[in-house]
Amino acid sequence: MNQADLEVLISEKEIQAKVGELAETITRDYAGQDLLVVGILKGAFIFMADLVRHIRLPVTVDFMDMSSYGSSTRSSGEVRILKDLEKPIEGKHVLIVEDIVDTGLTLNYIAELLRNRSPKSVRICALLDKPSRRKVDIVPDYCGFTIPDHFVVGYGLDYNDQYRNFRDICIVPAEA
Ligand code: IMP
Ligand code: MG
Repeated sequence: MNQADLEVLISEKEIQAKVGELAETITRDYAGQDLLVVGILKGAFIFMADLVRHIRLPVTVDFMDMSSYGSSTRSSGEVRILKDLEKPIEGKHVLIVEDIVDTGLTLNYIAELLRNRSPKSVRICALLDKPSRRKVDIVPDYCGFTIPDHFVVGYGLDYNDQYRNFRDICIVPAEA
């Protein structure tokens, strides 16, 4: 699968403009405060790298890696921690950065987990939102684009761990 063969859903230019806007809003909302940005591996790595470079606040970063039990296509909501945060988050403003909210089960689990560690606040920033497939009531505090029910790749998002390096967000044909 080549990027040139795929339909572009969101272009690199649109993504970059949106990331700048999200960072502006975040910078305004947390003015005068420190922010811990937590990226969910691996899908968020490119989005997070761009986002934090536009945020004009004292920022620290950390990462979590989760694996969901069950098949790769059916999210069970039971999540195993593969990599946890390095430091306690007590008393900190935490911003979770995720590539996409689909059923919402993963983010719901992570947000609950982090809220139980007594942070000052926990908010969610997702590049993409696919609300049509939602199973739990979770709405990202900051969201780049709401998209229809397509499987998409690029800008960090994968299909079988590939295509994360595509610069645009592209639609994977249903038969792929
Ligand atoms: P959820 O628990 O169903 O919300 O799962 C969210 C995770 O599923 C995301 O972090 C992605 O890794 C993956 N995912 C969901 N939809 C897509 C997609 O269209 N492309 C690539 N990954 C996706
Ligand atoms: Mg992922």
